[in-house]
Amino acid sequence: MKDTIRITKTQKSRLSEVDFDNIPFGRVFSDHMFVADYKDGEWQDPRIVPFGHFEIHPAAMALHYGQAIFEGMKASKSNDGTPLFLRPEMHAKRINQSARRMCMPDFPEGLFLEALHELVGLDRDWIPPKEGSALYIRPYMFANDEFIGVKPSQTYRFIIFTGPVGPYYPKPVSLIADTHYVRAAVKGGTGAAKVAGNYAASLLPAKLANEKGYDQVMWLDSIEFKYIQEVGTMNIFFVIDGKVVTPALNGGILPGITRDTALHILPEHGYEVEERPITIDEVVEAYQAGQLQEVFGTGTAAVVAHVSKLAYKDIVMDLPPMEERQVGQLIKTQIDGMRSGRIEDKHGWIEPVKAAVKA
Ligand SMILES: Cc1ncc(COP(=O)(O)O)c(C=O)c1O
Repeated sequence: MKDTIRITKTQKSRLSEVDFDNIPFGRVFSDHMFVADYKDGEWQDPRIVPFGHFEIHPAAMALHYGQAIFEGMKASKSNDGTPLFLRPEMHAKRINQSARRMCMPDFPEGLFLEALHELVGLDRDWIPPKEGSALYIRPYMFANDEFIGVKPSQTYRFIIFTGPVGPYYPKPVSLIADTHYVRAAVKGGTGAAKVAGNYAASLLPAKLANEKGYDQVMWLDSIEFKYIQEVGTMNIFFVIDGKVVTPALNGGILPGITRDTALHILPEHGYEVEERPITIDEVVEAYQAGQLQEVFGTGTAAVVAHVSKLAYKDIVMDLPPMEERQVGQLIKTQIDGMRSGRIEDKHGWIEPVKAAVKA
């Protein structure tokens, strides 16, 4: 990869059409996108171009054999208006872990970060100003060979686009543990990678959970349906008798970046944290003993989503009211506070957007 990023600016910004007080999630896209193509064994022609459609061949391999991976991250503005990222290098690393599992080429981490800074720097006015609002960033890569037959593609396209999202006021969610479907196999599967197919596999169980009146599925392990994995698009935490427990990464769980951040923050505030296998039976027993104090999910979108109700077979666990919860709230306050500049970033997680945009 020798080229630097070529920039073609849009002739007409769409920014004035956006109502920042009323942004539907996932439907508004900023003016520019970053694109690079992989061929002849290297990434070529990294460029920022006006956001828009592109052509794709009917035989493009990603559409048939599913070599497609992505990331989800955010840029936000601190209280003094500085645009910033939170731990962007973790996303640069994770997309390559996903790429390796899918037999796709690595995307150079340095170029990933440079592209983020240039793109978000160029579209910085698209970052909504309100605390809790953000510019959602979607890096992704897909197989682009025009070929029918199961083998790794020789060509790929890598794109980053962004779009403003409104303040996320996550309401507590209800969960049902699925005892029939899994999201991904625990051993040897693709659960630890952020691959498109994992999300496709989750849709039917999620629909069935909705039909039963629950917001999301809590995934159990694929062998015994006993060990808790994660939730919808979040990692899961339990507070049992004052101790914080989260399932250990086992190859079947996505290594969430918010999860990792929480695992750093909690001990610094005096909490004992255990990363270990945790069974649904243990959670039920804790509930029945009156020791299940909190259940919450962590992820880029919500930061923390509290769980109000958790069902397993015919057991329905109604969890303590919000006023009695401290742990999930602490994580959210710390992360939001670092983003806004109200809380000191002792870890060097915050990275101001530093693009010097060329003409
Ligand atoms: C399946 C799954 N688990 C967990 C997470 C949380 O990961 P992160 O904290 O990196 O957003 C996500 C979101 O990316 C996800 O899709």
